Amino acid sequence: MSRTRYPGPVTEAKVHPHRLVEQGFASDEVLAGILDRYPAELFDINLYDYDAEGQVSLRTGARGRLSGSDLLAAIQQGRLWVNLRGVETAWPELWAAAMADFHAIQATYPGMKAVTNAGQLILSSPAARVPYHFDAAGVVLFHLRGRKRLFVYPGDEAHLAEVDMENVVARQTTEELPYTLAFEPDAQIVDLEPGQALTWPLYAPHRVENLDRFCVSLSMDYQTWPSRWRNGALYTNAVLRRAGRRPRQTDSMAVPELAARWAASLALKRAGALKSRIATLERDFEPQVGSTDGARALR
Ligand SMILES: [Fe+2]
Repeated sequence: MSRTRYPGPVTEAKVHPHRLVEQGFASDEVLAGILDRYPAELFDINLYDYDAEGQVSLRTGARGRLSGSDLLAAIQQGRLWVNLRGVETAWPELWAAAMADFHAIQATYPGMKAVTNAGQLILSSPAARVPYHFDAAGVVLFHLRGRKRLFVYPGDEAHLAEVDMENVVARQTTEELPYTLAFEPDAQIVDLEPGQALTWPLYAPHRVENLDRFCVSLSMDYQTWPSRWRNGALYTNAVLRRAGRRPRQTDSMAVPELAARWAASLALKRAGALKSRIATLERDFEPQVGSTDGARALR
């Protein structure tokens, strides 16, 4: 079975070594310090609940006023998923070390050349699970603490419809995709230990389950020229679809057509063709030490 309909240098989920753990980036002391210093506007704090069919509901949290060490304790005791965006600017020491590892990993894939990289540091509770989604980018997930299980699915039309990709790329929905338990036999399953980094094919849908321990990972996404062209073409197709047209799938386009649609997307974005439909989120809770889920409800 093809793991993705978007061929690229990464053809399956694969583990690589990295050196971030031994450089001390994931100790309690270092994490409490970075949580104290990290800009509040770069935090995403989520609480996920699942029903018996694996369907997710999401509550979102505000940073609140906990000290770094109390916030760390709330994550370690609770059921939280905390994402620190903008590592490339907000934690330059970690970023420099991660980029060195990224270049070593990239060198193992002939023809892979990232033109932009960005990172999110993810601190998550022992029982946290991330729902089925895809990233409109290549991803290297550097795992630093705890154990987590990655489920990586084929990026074909059955698991990832192009119209859903268009909506995500054009920010017309949040990134959750249609999901059913019937996808489970199709997953490539990888357990990650500290010191391991995982890559997977461009756009491959995936989900994550922590294996009963507090987890720390750096999720690095990267764009290549082919991924830029593809994202731009998906955006342009989203605009055409909203205008009642039925654009051809980007699957069937060669590079010149993808590049032309990417160029069109730049003009469309400048012209404000599609407003983001992702509303400014109302926050549901604040982290709290010692309460259920590590959260205190906000009104
Ligand atoms: Fe992801």
